[in-house]
Amino acid sequence: MALTGLFLCTFLVGHLAGNLQLLISDPTHAAESFNAYAQFMTTNPLVKVLSYVTYFSILFHAIDGIMLVMANRAARPQRYAHEKASTSSVWASRNMGILGTAMLAFIIIHMSDFWFEMHFEMKPTFKLDNGDEVKDLYLEVVEAFHSFPYMLLYVLCMIPIGFHLYHGFQSAFRTLGLVHENLTLLVKRVGVIFSIVVPMAFAIIPLYVYHFIPSAEEIQKSESYKAKSTLIEVEND
Ligand code: HEM
Repeated sequence: MALTGLFLCTFLVGHLAGNLQLLISDPTHAAESFNAYAQFMTTNPLVKVLSYVTYFSILFHAIDGIMLVMANRAARPQRYAHEKASTSSVWASRNMGILGTAMLAFIIIHMSDFWFEMHFEMKPTFKLDNGDEVKDLYLEVVEAFHSFPYMLLYVLCMIPIGFHLYHGFQSAFRTLGLVHENLTLLVKRVGVIFSIVVPMAFAIIPLYVYHFIPSAEEIQKSESYKAKSTLIEVEND
């Protein structure tokens, strides 16, 4: 679990770095940048291999986690009469099963939207500066985050994800036996920063798109976008 967990942490950092391009304020510029990145991510052979490692890691990590929770329940069917969060372990560590399930549910919803649409659905296309015509994933994301419930879902889901990362990050280093006095303190500090900064940065993206980027419909009406976009009609809320 530790290795797949740490691999998924590095995936998250890379994924976040790519998604931060959604914060570019000019939609045509943002679409060029984000769609070129998406093209690279789906066509580069090395990235493709890393994608398969990511899918495998998510599955393995989730199955291993479920088995661990079940084994813990079987070993201790009755809860202790007095369970103090501050003494035995922090709240997050005792709720990793629930937090992990929430995270998995988020990933399933997330992939069935963006990932599925990107790989299997026909969408408006965008002409990149290099002449390639690619699916307009930028418009897809903007359209999704202009739905208030969907935007809110993404923001709220970052809370369980943050708690899961908070415990998981430190726990992974302990499992790997990397527990030297100084190292433990460093791991704890990096873990706290990681579990706050990464989910917050992810949460800022839907909030920003919802509040500061025009709707997909409006974007498609702009002259600079029309010159790049091929299919004019997208559904809008
Ligand atoms: C603002 C937040 C996010 C946005 C805008 C976003 C956007 C996207 C998009 C557009 C894709 C499809 C791209 C492709 O398949 O190449 C994707 C794939 C994916 N996302 Fe996200 N994402 C966000 C947050 C997250 C979070 C928090 C997680 C994990 C907890 C996550 C996990 C994944 C995974 C596992 C994939 C499939 C990756 C692959 O095919 O290699 N995403 N995301």
